[in-house]
Parts: sequence; structure tokens; C-alpha cells
Amino acid sequence: MNTFSNDKSWKYSNFIENKYFKFDQDQIFSILSKNEIDNAYKVISRWENYSSTPLENLNKLSNELCIKNIFYKDESKRFNLKSFKALGGAYAVEKISKDKKNIIVSTATAGNHGRSVAWGAKRLGLKCKIFISEFVSESRAEAMRGFGAEVFRVEGNYDNSLKECIKQSKKNGWEIIQDVAWKGYELVPKLTMAGYAVMMKEISDQINKNKISHIFLQAGVGGMAAAMIAGCARYLEYIPKIIIVEPESAECVLKAVEKNSIVTLDIKKESLMGGMSCGEVSTVPWKIINNNCNFCMSIPDDKISDTIKLLANSSFGENKLIGGECATPGIISLIACFNNIKLKEKLSLDKNSQVLLLGCEGNVDENLYQKLLNE
Ligand SMILES: Cc1ncc(COP(=O)(O)O)c(C=O)c1O
Repeated sequence: MNTFSNDKSWKYSNFIENKYFKFDQDQIFSILSKNEIDNAYKVISRWENYSSTPLENLNKLSNELCIKNIFYKDESKRFNLKSFKALGGAYAVEKISKDKKNIIVSTATAGNHGRSVAWGAKRLGLKCKIFISEFVSESRAEAMRGFGAEVFRVEGNYDNSLKECIKQSKKNGWEIIQDVAWKGYELVPKLTMAGYAVMMKEISDQINKNKISHIFLQAGVGGMAAAMIAGCARYLEYIPKIIIVEPESAECVLKAVEKNSIVTLDIKKESLMGGMSCGEVSTVPWKIINNNCNFCMSIPDDKISDTIKLLANSSFGENKLIGGECATPGIISLIACFNNIKLKEKLSLDKNSQVLLLGCEGNVDENLYQKLLNE
């Protein structure tokens, strides 16, 4: 096995400490209430074929880095959708469609969220319209069609697909199920976050009284990270150090935390971590992330393919794990911290540390997964 802690090629791009940090449970629950979090678990845990995804112990990596435990939540096993996104969109579809007959749901997506909405609609026998940009792969579009959705391809980027979705939905009376919030549109993004928080409920049951000391949370528009922070507030007795990780080309949360206000980035180059290639943090998650994360860091794409291979050949733990591109940032940033003594000390990473990483997705885009695996 490589000596990861002596391999400087595992590196980060930017790092900041949140000057405005003050973990405030009440403030978090004022955005996403305990009731909303509990209700999501109650509903989702009753879905057919529901089971907790595994919490893997990456014991080979923790031995190498000389820390106590590295837990890795394996979302590749989430229903048959292979990503945590299954918990969000489908739950929002169920809540929004309750007591409404024959509604048609719609969304814009980079892939995984749309798959969840399409799956949720199919479960309830609803029609579903999905808008994707020219950058979304055909295999992702096919997967959504496989759940009965009608897929519309829109010229340009994700924002264009969202604009078209809003326009068509207004015109046709479709219910938009979007994971991003905007002024006057906050309920559905909150429901998706409440769904994601199910991961933390499962983790709190799985860690078996171990105290998590650090949690690395990937961010795109910040919904998943904010949901997990709310999950920490709801389910953990001990609040870990919270580190947000983004692609270096799309560090919109880092920049917002640095400035203490939302910034819009002009993304010059899309990261391979497609679901995380976002230029602006969403307003609802921002209200949670703002004061309640300790650190933000960004990473280059360089080590994604190596990490996917190392997961697949059980170099980090006892089991072979299928992790897609967005499953890698936690591992990459953790190892990067161990190659920078100042950072390691700043984060107080030591032999007592118990780190939680999120393996957010599996081989959702099979073509890309195979390409990265064989690079
Ligand atoms: C597959 C995938 N999509 C999207 C995201 C980003 O989620 P959000 O946009 O809620 O921050 C992640 C994780 O960060 C992810 O793993």
C-alpha cells in the first residue's frame, strides 16, 4: 500500500477557517426543525426496500494515518439509485403530492436529483418532466427515462435548464421539485434536506457510542452539507469539527463563508465532480452552513481517479467499495491534511480522531465510472 501520508500529490487548493463559527442548535432548528427532520425519517424508513446503507470502517487508511477510526457512509447502496440523492427528491415528491390528485412534477438536474424525483414520481404513479443541460450525459438521461420521466435537453448549462423548467412548469401547471432554493421557493429544498438528514440518523445508530471528532462534507449548492449539520444537531451528543469540501473550480461555499455573504462564481471549468460543480450556495442551506461549519477547503480533480481505484481494490478498508467521483472528496481532503503539518494541527487531527466521510454516490454514471477506474 502507498504511504499516503508521505505522498505530496494528495493536496488541497484552498483552506479557510470560519471566523463566524458558533454552533447554534436553536438557530439550525429554526431553519430545519426537529419535527421536519424526524418526519422525514418516519416516512422514508417505511418505504419498501428501505434499509440503512453500510457504515464502512476504512481501517487500512486509519492505520496508515495513525488515527483511531475513519467511517465511510456508503451511499452507493442507497435503494437502487446509488446515491444519497434518493432520500431528497423522492421524499419531496411524496410530501408535495399528498392530498393532490394527478399532479405532474418537474425538475432541473445534473443527474442524481432528477433520478430521485423520477423514481419518487413513479412510486406514486405521477407523471414527471425533467430538464437537463447539454453537459448531462446520455446515460444519466436514460436512467431517468427508465423511471418513466420525459426528459428535455436544454442548450447551455444547468442554470439554463432550471430557467426552462420554471418557464414550462408555470405555463403547464407542473409542480417544481427543486433542490435549490430561491426567493419565495423554500419548502421543497427544505424537504429534500430533511430527507438527506436520514443519513445522520442511520450513522448515529451505527457508530455505536463512538464519538465522531471530524466530519468532511461535500458541497455543491450546500443542501447535503446543511442537512448533515442539522443531522449532527439533531442526533449527535458530541458535535464534531465540520469541514466543507468543494472542487477548486467551484468553491462557492468557501468564498461565501470567507465573505460572510453569498457570492456568485463564474465557473471557468466544470469539475469532474459534476454534482458539486455549482457557482452559488443555495439560500436555505446557507443559513445553516454560514455560522455552523468550522472550516472550508477545496481540492483539485487530480486524485479522483486514484481514489476510485483505491476504493475499488480495498486499499482503504477490508471491503471493495464502489465510489463515484463525488464519493472521493472526503478521502482526498483528509489525506491532504496529513500532508500538511500546519493543517493537521489546525484541525486537531491526531491518534484519537474518529473521522466521518461520506461516500455520496456509487457508479451512477457507469461510463464515467469505468473511464476513471481504468485511467
Ligand atoms: C452526487 C452528488 N451530487 C450533488 C452533491 C452536492 O449536493 P448539494 O448540491 O446538496 O450540496 C453531492 C455531494 O456533495 C454529490 O455527491
